[in-house]
Amino acid sequence: MRMVDIIEKKRDGQELTTAEINFFIEGYTKGEIPDYQASALAMAIYFQDMNDRERADLTRAMVESGDTIDLSAIDGVKVDKHSTGGVGDTTTLVLAPLVASLGVPVAKMSGRGLGHTGGTIDKLESIAGFHVELTREQFIDLVNRDKVAVIGQSGNLTPADKKLYALRDVTGTVNSIPLIASSIMSKKIAAGADAIVLDVKTGDGAFMKTQEDAEKLAHAMVRIGNHVGRKTIAIISDMSQPLGFAIGNALEVKEAIETLQGKGPKDLTELVLTLGSQMVILAGKAKTSEEAKEMLLDAIHSGKALAKFKEFLANQGGDASIVDDLTKLPQAKYKIELPAKQSGYISRMVADEIGVASMILGAGRATKEDVIDLAVGLVLHKKVGDKVEEGESILTIYSNRENVEDVKQKLYDNIFIADTATTPTLIHTVITE
Ligand code: URA
Ligand code: CA
Repeated sequence: MRMVDIIEKKRDGQELTTAEINFFIEGYTKGEIPDYQASALAMAIYFQDMNDRERADLTRAMVESGDTIDLSAIDGVKVDKHSTGGVGDTTTLVLAPLVASLGVPVAKMSGRGLGHTGGTIDKLESIAGFHVELTREQFIDLVNRDKVAVIGQSGNLTPADKKLYALRDVTGTVNSIPLIASSIMSKKIAAGADAIVLDVKTGDGAFMKTQEDAEKLAHAMVRIGNHVGRKTIAIISDMSQPLGFAIGNALEVKEAIETLQGKGPKDLTELVLTLGSQMVILAGKAKTSEEAKEMLLDAIHSGKALAKFKEFLANQGGDASIVDDLTKLPQAKYKIELPAKQSGYISRMVADEIGVASMILGAGRATKEDVIDLAVGLVLHKKVGDKVEEGESILTIYSNRENVEDVKQKLYDNIFIADTATTPTLIHTVITE
């Protein structure tokens, strides 16, 4: 088999065989196929697309390019949740203990944040002592006993995806549905999930800026999952503005605790209940989303979900007493308000740029090596659709430096006030096909 023939075939709009896709992924992973040929093929796929079978084969080949995690020693259906990335997305911190408190095993492999989106591990590390350095055995034992544990990314998972994603990043081929869908799904499948709930974001803060593109990506991933025998459900949710009120590591932990107490932001709570009920259904613990939602609300109101969060923190070395005393979380030195320059309604809050503002404060990494400041970030007081008076605070900046003029300017540039505004729809669709 010759790589040039495969490139020409796809360039001319033909379907690649399973063997051809395997040849490409294996050869590229081993370094036998050079970057220039891989990028030519990525560009051909970008223009010519792939059918469902090719997409599933590409996903499978990437899964098989490296280690896979075997979670079969954990009882029950392991349901993983994946978000395509958002700003102030605190859902994982709430969902993990919440669904675990209903007996759904949560064996979560998580990463650190890069760019304007935060990572679950960074957020959890704002709790003194908490760590994710567990052996495979400890991890499995914890999930079997208490239903929830989080481990850092380890092993050589999907090396083909790592190489190909980096190449796509510099060859103008990131934005291709078959390439994004196979990239995301290969990582979830390699990490051992039996079933997958996808939160595909749409809007300014998301990869997919329009609802139409988000739906295409969601359908593609659901079809791949079902093709390779992992039940997959996707929801399309709004990321035109940040989720909830808090953006920043310790600030989001506080928000997660409040949500587990039933006092969380409306949008975050709604998203958690929607994603959570799909997870509960896939795990076989409920038949309908109404039934699942009832169970989740009961876990919140009875205190069961919060107790599970404390247990989870303590199991991984964390100081669970922070839950009852939020001042034990890292605190920023300065709290600076952002007053509205005019009266009206908040009409737009550009999510990704607000994420960047939080990153500039030190809450996120610009490069992998950056050390982040867990205490800093933003807490919104207003969301899109809310009324605001001139001089009233739109949000509070939590900072460890006194001068935040650069951050304020970035925020003013990306928060718009108009005479009228409507609240955006949070959940667009649930895709189960
Ligand atoms: N996220 C991924 O993991 N892969 C892509 O290709 C795009 C976004
Ligand atoms: Ca938030």
